[in-house]
Amino acid sequence: MVILVSSCKSGLGDYDPTEYKIDSLLSVMTVEEKIGQLIQENGGQGHDEDIKRGRVGSVLNEVNTENINRLQQLAIDSSRLGIPIIFARDVIHGFKTIFPIPLGLAATFNPELIEKTAAIAAMEAASVGIRWTFSPMIDVCRDPRWGRIAESFGEDTHLQSLMGEAMVKGYQASALNRQGSIASCAKHFVAYGAAEGGRDYNTVSVPENELRDVYLPPFKACVDAGVATLMTAFNEVNGVPASGNRFLLDRILQQEWQYKGLVVSDWESIPQMQTHGYTTDLKESAFEAFDAGMHMEMNSKGFAEYLKELIDEGRIPSGMLDDAARKILELKFRLGLFDNPYTFPENFPALLNEDHKEVARQAAAESVVLLKNKGPVLPLGAEIHKIAIIGPLANSPHDQLGTWIFDGDKRDAITPLESITEYFGSSNIQYAPGMEISRTKTREGFNRALQAAKNADIILLFLGEESILSGESHCRADIGLPGAQEELVQTLSETGKPLVVIVMAGRPLTFEKVLPKIDALLYAWHPGTMAGPALRDILFGIECPSGKLPVTFPRHVGQVPLYYNHKNTGKPATDLTWERMDDIPAEAAQLSIGNTSHYLDYGFKPWFPFGFGLSYTHFEYSDFRVKPAEVSPGDSIVFYASLKNTGEYAGTEVVQLYIRDMVASRTRPVRELKAFQRVTLEPGEIKDITMKIHTSQLGFHNQDMDYVTEAGDFKAWIGGDSETSYELDFSIKK
Ligand code: GLC
Repeated sequence: MVILVSSCKSGLGDYDPTEYKIDSLLSVMTVEEKIGQLIQENGGQGHDEDIKRGRVGSVLNEVNTENINRLQQLAIDSSRLGIPIIFARDVIHGFKTIFPIPLGLAATFNPELIEKTAAIAAMEAASVGIRWTFSPMIDVCRDPRWGRIAESFGEDTHLQSLMGEAMVKGYQASALNRQGSIASCAKHFVAYGAAEGGRDYNTVSVPENELRDVYLPPFKACVDAGVATLMTAFNEVNGVPASGNRFLLDRILQQEWQYKGLVVSDWESIPQMQTHGYTTDLKESAFEAFDAGMHMEMNSKGFAEYLKELIDEGRIPSGMLDDAARKILELKFRLGLFDNPYTFPENFPALLNEDHKEVARQAAAESVVLLKNKGPVLPLGAEIHKIAIIGPLANSPHDQLGTWIFDGDKRDAITPLESITEYFGSSNIQYAPGMEISRTKTREGFNRALQAAKNADIILLFLGEESILSGESHCRADIGLPGAQEELVQTLSETGKPLVVIVMAGRPLTFEKVLPKIDALLYAWHPGTMAGPALRDILFGIECPSGKLPVTFPRHVGQVPLYYNHKNTGKPATDLTWERMDDIPAEAAQLSIGNTSHYLDYGFKPWFPFGFGLSYTHFEYSDFRVKPAEVSPGDSIVFYASLKNTGEYAGTEVVQLYIRDMVASRTRPVRELKAFQRVTLEPGEIKDITMKIHTSQLGFHNQDMDYVTEAGDFKAWIGGDSETSYELDFSIKK
């Protein structure tokens, strides 16, 4: 007997409200069928029998539309109740049209653009039958050793929140049943980016107030934006694995946030609770996860094998099973899968169409951060007639796509070599990789590189990391330029030719000591399909770089964790108090006065600070004001400044507003980003900037774990990076 539940089918009558449909469905589902909805299988092969028995709620990693439709037909026509399947995929920064890695997207400081990229990714994924992506990844990360920093939006909670929210809106649009909408998934709940030592999956110990003030807000922003699902993290949080953590899944998500969406495990994160040493076996892992608030299990079989037993034993109330199955059914109804379960790609815009590629070019161009421009040597001017293009990342279509590009194809990628050669003329270009890949340790390609440089007016040197050197479990203890790249810089600098370095990488890298040999430095992250056209436009001044760093660049990996919104401590260092290692006399006496928090060898400052990025033009800030300078709790505060383009290029500045609560019942960071806006100015143009925040944005969790905004004095800074000196005072009165 097949019972079809749909607004347009007879049998069970007209079920207008979705809840009524779901209640009707649940009333006839067996326990096995309800459990079946909680199971997510991997890949589209080998699950036919389970699908027919109604024991598969979702399939991930099947992207062949013919097979997706076949499996869907099996679920609808051959299972007893005909409940459709949700097909899921990691669509992290694009499906076929690949955008910059999320760390690069963050560097745009352009949420509106990021929303567009997510909408395009959703349209392309939905066109093959994918209706659920495991994105956005919104793990705040202060440790560039961690491979998945590439996949995050960096170290700042506010930026991470806005970017996560933008992606949710882009993926889900106004309704999940619209053509091209897919369910999104905020991950990894929570604090996965705080893994000890930047080692993936590693231990996370974070005090509750820091969880609530740093790591949880991006998830709350996504929940408030209507994110359809959440994924739990692999790591433990303060001794309890996230996938069985009642404080997270019940207290925070259900009781405090009243979250109504679906919670899915990460890949086998439920059985991993036994590996963590938290459960004795798979049955206990299934119990701990389900009892804590997990609704669906990715790939592993805890729920499939033990939930019925746990219910029969009375350890899991059958009502909890209904609640979990309801979440999945609600999502399927919201996606319109009961009414339109099949995919017809011909009804969608073409993959990789020109509009999609233009947005990818724009995102890649806006993600590029100009870190140095001596001369200025950039943009390339009319005096340049011959260009040497060198380096392992000048023509690597695979690596420029970055990590997590399951469906991106390097054959669609346009490399910098291709775009620059096409634009500048092949007769004016000399190309030599210099190194086969980023990890090449030998100098055997250096001579050819020198030959290419010999007749050139300028060297464009593309360095960095292959894409596989970041991403899941691909962490690095030494975050320098891999292989012989620094030697290649040194060798090419000896030609005396102007040297422009363009870095593609999945994280900040440390190569400060060769910076003096470099005339201009562009940081392009992994820019995606349209890396070539984007970098062509930046290098030739068709686009003016506007990217800003979403993460601090340390001088040395030994400084990590190093981030801008740090605490002041009781003995902060200054340039005056930094005791430089080489200045210490032999047999110096150990004193305990005048000491401050720093490293003898690498001091206390970053190489480049959060929010930093240069332009081809110059911006001048003036006329700073804050009104009112004294506010009451619950008021808004408006900050003003004037911004002038004093250079000769049109350009875009990301104006940033930082605040500091000078004295509070818990110590507060020395700076916190609270607002930013992109301002585009023609040469000579002046604009008045207004930035408004609410006193509620100045709060934190106090010793009683209440979120409070306390009265007292505050400072504010407005400028182009987190070290800007343009300072304002304001206060909140009692
Ligand atoms: C991975 C990742 C997660 C991803 C999932 C499915 O291990 O941690 O982010 O969505 O498995 O591929």
